[in-house]
Amino acid sequence: MTAQLIDGNALSKQLRTQVAADTAALKAKGLTPGLAVVLVGDNPASQVYVRNKVKACEDAGLHSVLEKYEADMTEADLLARVEALNNDPAIHGILVQLPLPAHIDAQKVIEAISPAKDVDGFHIASAGALMTGMPGFWPCTPYGCMKMLESIGYDLKGKHAVVIGRSNIVGKPMALMLLQKDATVTVAHSRTQNLKALTLQADVIVAAVGKRNVLTADMVKPGAVVLDVGMNRNDEGKLCGDVDFDGVKEVAGYITPVPGGVGPMTITMLLVNTLESAQRALSEKH
Ligand code: GUN
Repeated sequence: MTAQLIDGNALSKQLRTQVAADTAALKAKGLTPGLAVVLVGDNPASQVYVRNKVKACEDAGLHSVLEKYEADMTEADLLARVEALNNDPAIHGILVQLPLPAHIDAQKVIEAISPAKDVDGFHIASAGALMTGMPGFWPCTPYGCMKMLESIGYDLKGKHAVVIGRSNIVGKPMALMLLQKDATVTVAHSRTQNLKALTLQADVIVAAVGKRNVLTADMVKPGAVVLDVGMNRNDEGKLCGDVDFDGVKEVAGYITPVPGGVGPMTITMLLVNTLESAQRALSEKH
């Protein structure tokens, strides 16, 4: 293996220790940061995710509430819950776990969350703030990727970054964050022709497609930094990313593993955003 590993567990531990310290300091001033996690239905993956989010809050000393509802909850009832949480002074972050059942308009629910509490960064106000460089919450997964690049002291200025995937949650915000740090950014997607020609030019590659082996060793320039956002299962049922890790690690300069890479960073940045929201609430009071 030639690539150095970017260890998401180790970096998360370091950042969560800082979040815990800052949370303790905020509590000493009389304010406990609070996150509300709302889950509708019984999607098994979502149940694991929300449990991990609530546990991470507890471990760092944040207040958290998990609201679970039946899959047949009406959209109106969910919107009413969001409104109540918007007005709850103990809550600084609201996260409605996606996907929502098909009869609920997810975008409508996201837009009902107060942008001041949108710690997922999915509201159009948050997306607009990111696009224009204004203060606002950044989506946790690409934000975590930026922290990983920062942790290796990587200077993006003038570098070519190729983002594979154009989702609202990862690909698009990732491209904007990289651009903000002066990278030259290419966004590739399912209709892109000759992906390999693009990735071979890349200094940084972010794979965020949700499909195994999207990036193989022959597609990577020696020394490139490879961030793997994928979360898939291989034929043996083992967790794997979008990157052919065993092949690419022989070519890349840095690589993130799956599991133990970007995944834990997503939850860490949720804590960071919730803490930030509480700090803003306190400074507005004074
Ligand atoms: N479903 C999968 N990932 C996420 C996430 O980061 N936030 C929310 N709200 N739902 C998700």
